[in-house]
Amino acid sequence: MTVTLWDVHCSTMANPRPPIIRTSHFVHIFMLILGSRSQHSLGNDFIGNYSNSFLSHVPSHLSSKTTILDLSLNNIIKLQIEDFKSLRNLRVLKLSYNRIQHFDIDVFRFNQHLEYLDLSHNKLRKISCHHLMNLIHLDLSFNEFEALPICEEFANMSRLDFLGLSATRIQKSDLLPISHLNLSHILLDLERFHGEKSTLENLPVLNTKTLRIILPLNKPFSVQLNMSVYNLRHLELFNINVDDDKCSLLTDFLSKLINKAKFLNLTLYHMETTWKCFVKSLQFLWLESVEYLHIYNLTLVDKIDFEPFSYSETSLKGLKIELCIIKVYLFSQNVLYDFFSNMNIKMLILSSTRMLHMVCPSKPSPFQYLDFANSLFTESLFQDCENLTLLQTLILQKNKFTQLSKISLMTKKMKSLKHLDLSQNSISYEDKKNCSWAESLLVLNLSSNELTDSVFRCLPPRITVLDLHRNKIRSILKDMTSLEMLQELNVASNSLVDLPGCSTFRSLSTLVITYNSVTHPSAHFFDSCQNIKSLQAGDNPFTCTCSLREFSRNIATLSDQVVRGWPHSYKCAFPDSYKGTQLKDFHLSPFSCNLVLITITVLLIGLVLMIVTAFLCIHFDLPWYLRMILQWTRTRRRARNISLDHLERTYQFHAFISYSERDSAWVKQELIPNLEDENIKICLHERNFVPGKSIVENIINCIEKSHKSIFILSPNFIQSEWCHYELYFAHHKLFREGSDNLLLVLLEPIPQCTIPTRYHKLKVLMAQRTYLEWPKEKSKQVFFWANIRAAFNVKLALVTEDNEI
Ligand SMILES: *[C@@H]1O[C@H](CO)[C@@H](O)[C@H](O)[C@H]1NC(C)=O
Repeated sequence: MTVTLWDVHCSTMANPRPPIIRTSHFVHIFMLILGSRSQHSLGNDFIGNYSNSFLSHVPSHLSSKTTILDLSLNNIIKLQIEDFKSLRNLRVLKLSYNRIQHFDIDVFRFNQHLEYLDLSHNKLRKISCHHLMNLIHLDLSFNEFEALPICEEFANMSRLDFLGLSATRIQKSDLLPISHLNLSHILLDLERFHGEKSTLENLPVLNTKTLRIILPLNKPFSVQLNMSVYNLRHLELFNINVDDDKCSLLTDFLSKLINKAKFLNLTLYHMETTWKCFVKSLQFLWLESVEYLHIYNLTLVDKIDFEPFSYSETSLKGLKIELCIIKVYLFSQNVLYDFFSNMNIKMLILSSTRMLHMVCPSKPSPFQYLDFANSLFTESLFQDCENLTLLQTLILQKNKFTQLSKISLMTKKMKSLKHLDLSQNSISYEDKKNCSWAESLLVLNLSSNELTDSVFRCLPPRITVLDLHRNKIRSILKDMTSLEMLQELNVASNSLVDLPGCSTFRSLSTLVITYNSVTHPSAHFFDSCQNIKSLQAGDNPFTCTCSLREFSRNIATLSDQVVRGWPHSYKCAFPDSYKGTQLKDFHLSPFSCNLVLITITVLLIGLVLMIVTAFLCIHFDLPWYLRMILQWTRTRRRARNISLDHLERTYQFHAFISYSERDSAWVKQELIPNLEDENIKICLHERNFVPGKSIVENIINCIEKSHKSIFILSPNFIQSEWCHYELYFAHHKLFREGSDNLLLVLLEPIPQCTIPTRYHKLKVLMAQRTYLEWPKEKSKQVFFWANIRAAFNVKLALVTEDNEI
């Protein structure tokens, strides 16, 4: 059973005439200029499109190659042979919506290839006929003809397939020429019909597959045509307005038209009637050979009361009522519900009806297809209904359903239900509510609802197609019961952050997950979803970092048959540097994404640095240099802070040197010459010795007259000299308060253990490492002297010796 049967459209009704604007000369010229751009070729056709161009006559400059010419929606009044003479190849001519009054077919004398001629919606009152063999489509409907515009010559138009006619009256003789033609489509415009008199006449039988009759708008039904039609498959009636009195006129009218038809599709557009007449007409059609009945735009007036109806054997398979307005305010709803729910047909469509409810059929129903789209149905529909066991498809799109669990219980007893459409409702699911679906359900459409993650706890177990797009799902529950048969899953326009794996959907072959919040889709998807045949994952805010590399590599290897929308809808949204880049063009070097590699590299570089440092330390004695430089800078800084004035008044010497006799060689050959080269005045206790004083007194004297004291430390010095100073240290604070004036030179290393414990001060000084080491290597000695020099402020002008002692 297909639904496409219903989709017969009526294009004639769809185009209301636009307002006519009188052409001025100016506009005309303007349009001619524009017009030259309206010609183009398409395949074998050369098309001239001058529709809606304010033309008052057929343009004269048309290319002789023109095969299709559209002059509709203009103000053309007259047609002349000259207009079309040069258009030898013209096949299609559209002249609808003009103001043509007279039409002489002879104007197309030179257009032997003309097949399609549309003159509908003009002001034609008369046609003059000539032989025109080739026409396939001739539309003369919506004109001002009195009698049917059918000439004798029509009888020879053997190729004619479509014929559009209009008339105010119909006579037997008018129809005779076409009665033997085998047409596909007759359009009979009876909008201005007032030929009731002709009704009694026995009109000839017509032969057409589709007959479309336009009845007068807003007028009570009165047309009577005593005409039957062979081969009729589609009958379309427009503008039926019947009340109870005229109801039998309608059934009579229909009965004559369809009495020869089998398997008829009957469509009634814009029907206004009473409930009583509606039921009566339906009862009539129940017994006729109509297969599908479609009523589009039904208005019910007057009152709705119970009307007897016999659901006898019928050839009717489907009834579709689309757009129903009930202009009755107080009536028993049950009359309506009972009437429809007990119909013995397979297919019932009541869409856009504002209906609230439908009752369960009172006995087992043959309904296989029910469609109540775009109405006001709620959960109260079909609860505990046991009589819909044959129902396969139930469309409840765009209604007022809210509770998923109740809906599942509704399906429970529909043993054959395969397809359920609940899209565009306000359905949500409260976790832990009881869900029990029809076992047979295969296709479930829950799109455009209010569902959250919990929906995965309330799904039919054998579902194969599941549409959940446009909901509020953030994640697919890990602990849901797996849907082993699910093949198609649409979760577009939700808030998912990752692609679902297929561990719970083992048969998944189609996944749509566009417009979600997927930032780093796991590459693992392709391992778990081996059966995937179509993936649509574009339009997500992909974060283009290392973690996306594998996914985009995997996805790029699949064919674009599988990956829909690739590559244009797969773009980076973050970081800003990649924003808008297609995943196809997003590359990062393998190195920058390999954590192990990065770690190893960092470790290696660290190791090399450590080795280099160690090498430098061992080979070049780096710490020694550093220490020296540090000391040098410290000394310089200190020297700068001392006020010269004060120093100059106090001291006679720059330095006093104390050393062991055994180190005198170094002192005399190295230290003193170097110091004196820098103009540093030195007090040597043996040179500046004051007779009559003890050694210790002399030493102390020397120390006090010198700005700085240099001690040359070595094992020898400890053994022989240190004792001299202990006393001094004991009495003078000088050494205790910072040792600014004390310069220790370590000539030879002194192992800590060899320093006697009583030399407490020495131990402290050694531990503080505030001494200068004398390096044996020549290269280092430069630093040593630089440090010594830095310790002295040579600009110091000293007091002469004689002033004091
Ligand atoms: C579900 O319904 C929507 C309309 O409400 C439609 O666009 C969509 O195609 C349907 N899905 C399926 C799987 O039929």
